Amino acid sequence: MHALIDELEWRRRLGLRFLPLSPHGMDLLQSLVQTPSAPTPPPSSPSFARVVVPAAEPTLARSPHKPPTSGPRTPTHSPGGNELRASPNSAEMALPGLWGDTPAPGLSREARLAALEALRTRVLQCTRCPHLVAQRKNVVFGVGNPEAELVFVGEAPGAEEDEKGEPFVGPAGQLLTRIIQAMGFTREQVYIANILKCRPDTPSQTSGNRKPTPVEMATCFPYLREQLQLIRPKVIVALGATAVEGLLGKPPTGISKLRGQWQQWEGIPVMPTYHPAYLLRNQAPAEKRKVWEDMLQVLQRLGRPITERQRNYFTRSSLERL
Ligand code: URA
Ligand code: URA
Repeated sequence: MHALIDELEWRRRLGLRFLPLSPHGMDLLQSLVQTPSAPTPPPSSPSFARVVVPAAEPTLARSPHKPPTSGPRTPTHSPGGNELRASPNSAEMALPGLWGDTPAPGLSREARLAALEALRTRVLQCTRCPHLVAQRKNVVFGVGNPEAELVFVGEAPGAEEDEKGEPFVGPAGQLLTRIIQAMGFTREQVYIANILKCRPDTPSQTSGNRKPTPVEMATCFPYLREQLQLIRPKVIVALGATAVEGLLGKPPTGISKLRGQWQQWEGIPVMPTYHPAYLLRNQAPAEKRKVWEDMLQVLQRLGRPITERQRNYFTRSSLERL
């Protein structure tokens, strides 16, 4: 229940004393109180670093009278009926539908749109990081299809994104757009968001981007978590080391080892790959080919047909370039 406790502590620090809770959320909280053995988080555990491991021991007792209000991808009842199967880190799997203001998955398109819009309104007013608020021109919430099968997660807005209020519209964004199109999608069909919604301030520089700090990432990540819980894509592509770290915690190996290897976030397959800004710095076709191979894996996972032309991008025998 680490994520739940983090979230509650965060809201208390914001001065909130009352929370709108769904019946499902109320059940979960009651079960926490009734379970003295519920694990407490180690103090060093960063709230954004969660890899959901396969469910092991059922650790949460669940009150028998309420059916779960959650959709098909949330934890299921054990055959006995009264337990919610949960791994030590599965609080996030239980979070959809927990808050009264965050509906569970299995939503209609309209409800999903409305929930995302309500979230956008909250995020646009966010002042959790005063130093970023002081510098930003726009909050960059995210863009695309609220029912996307595929979500791209980047690091943080750069100058162009800050100017326009839209993610991935600068040079790296234009390359990402070409990758998306080469995959057979439009930007409107997928969803694009970042770990950080505000541009990391660069007081001593007029250009360039600074990597978000761990505190900034932990502070902003709950927003991306809500976005992803509402959209529930079939696949998430994590663009670059920072996106991987924000979603999954600090990986034991670097991005060059991790890319191309399926990971998971809340049961959703995650494909780590290089950031398009890296491909702009390193123009070697071999590096682009690696990203493209990762995207071919994504297409396969989505059950999309792959054309011969797509298969041959960036190979020696192909003149096709992004
Ligand atoms: N780089 C990112 O990680 N995100 C953007 O939105 C733009 C550039
Ligand atoms: N190094 C990074 O930090 N990101 C990449 O995408 C590639 C190399």
